[in-house]
Amino acid sequence: MVKAVEKKSGDRHLSINEWENEAKGIISKKAFDYIARGSGEESTLHSNRAAFSDYQISHRVLRDVSKIDTGMTLFGQTISSPMLFAPIGVQTIAHPQGELASSRAAASMNLPFVLSTVSSYSMEEVAGQMKESSRWFQLYYSGNELVAESMIKRAESSGYSAIVLTVDTPIMGFRESDHINNYSPIGEGSGSGNYFTDPIFQNLLEKPIMEDREMALKKQKELFENPSVTWEAIHRIRQYTDLPILLKGIVHPEDAKLALDYKVDGLIVSNHGGRQLDHGVATLDVLEGICDVVKGELPVLLDSGVRRGSDVFKALALGACAVLIGRPFMYGLALGGEDGVMKVMEQIQNEFEVTMALAGTSTISEINKTYLVPKKPNK
Ligand SMILES: Cc1cc2nc3c(=O)[nH]c(=O)nc-3n(C[C@H](O)[C@H](O)[C@H](O)COP(=O)(O)O)c2cc1C
Repeated sequence: MVKAVEKKSGDRHLSINEWENEAKGIISKKAFDYIARGSGEESTLHSNRAAFSDYQISHRVLRDVSKIDTGMTLFGQTISSPMLFAPIGVQTIAHPQGELASSRAAASMNLPFVLSTVSSYSMEEVAGQMKESSRWFQLYYSGNELVAESMIKRAESSGYSAIVLTVDTPIMGFRESDHINNYSPIGEGSGSGNYFTDPIFQNLLEKPIMEDREMALKKQKELFENPSVTWEAIHRIRQYTDLPILLKGIVHPEDAKLALDYKVDGLIVSNHGGRQLDHGVATLDVLEGICDVVKGELPVLLDSGVRRGSDVFKALALGACAVLIGRPFMYGLALGGEDGVMKVMEQIQNEFEVTMALAGTSTISEINKTYLVPKKPNK
């Protein structure tokens, strides 16, 4: 049980926009742009936020909200709130401790940490920071089957409890700012933690990584871009592991139907935070349609644009069981390492508790669509 409206960080409350602005002041422009910006003319990026403003919360009154419990169970694990750390690669561009710091913050808050395939540190190093805390591994399905198999098996043996297959990235989105800045942190080696420690990957190289790093990075790039992945990949992942498989990047109800046919274990409604398809749909706008298809058979999570506790509330009201948060914790990481990450995530958690209390809900199972009023009549 969490006491309502308890401010844990004790610090000045900054909005996520302020965290973003302060982060902008301390990391390089190219690293900041890589984190904050979106693809194309950033239509999807902006739509994600706008969709949250299209709903208002209609509160209930005279209910006992002296105790707010945000706890829940996800894939058999009890977590303290319906919030996860989204998989974000190359975290050392924000702070030298990268995923080591953010995963420690996740562990101390008892929130699941989703580690990216292109993390700066290896999955084993990150696991070493987290002890028994909940962690999932995000997979970009490698162009080399043996490397894909190896990464999945390494994840299972180092205590990751789910595989998140990202499906909205057959190729990289066109991110104008990275082109203008001529910047590719993956190409520069900030996302090699899992590749360079992989024995199967190492065997594909003509020379040891220490002797020819450029060649190793070239090989990583070749395997990373894999536009021929299809639904059959799910069958192959099943052969390699018994862990639950989630698909991240679902926005179309027809794909949700296929996901049921392929017997995946969960869906993440996501558009990669507006970094992939520009002029794509906002995730909040498609959430209900996906939940209608899934009919409670699978957990449905959502990300892209979650910035406030009220956003978490709205996503849950429209059918998500939990949300993932991306850029906000990266701003905290840039500003204060592990401590900064904690502050950002605690702030969103505090806001969520305040929202729940003021809406008249004391447990997350009470949150449903009756608490929302669309601003636009056709929603
Ligand atoms: C800098 C950055 C790197 C990312 N790297 C990955 C990644 O490696 N794998 C992945 O599935 N998603 C990646 N994402 C997308 C996030 O997992 C998530 O979908 C998105 O950030 C959510 O939107 P938000 O930032 O608005 O919260 C990345 C996002 C950012 C901002």
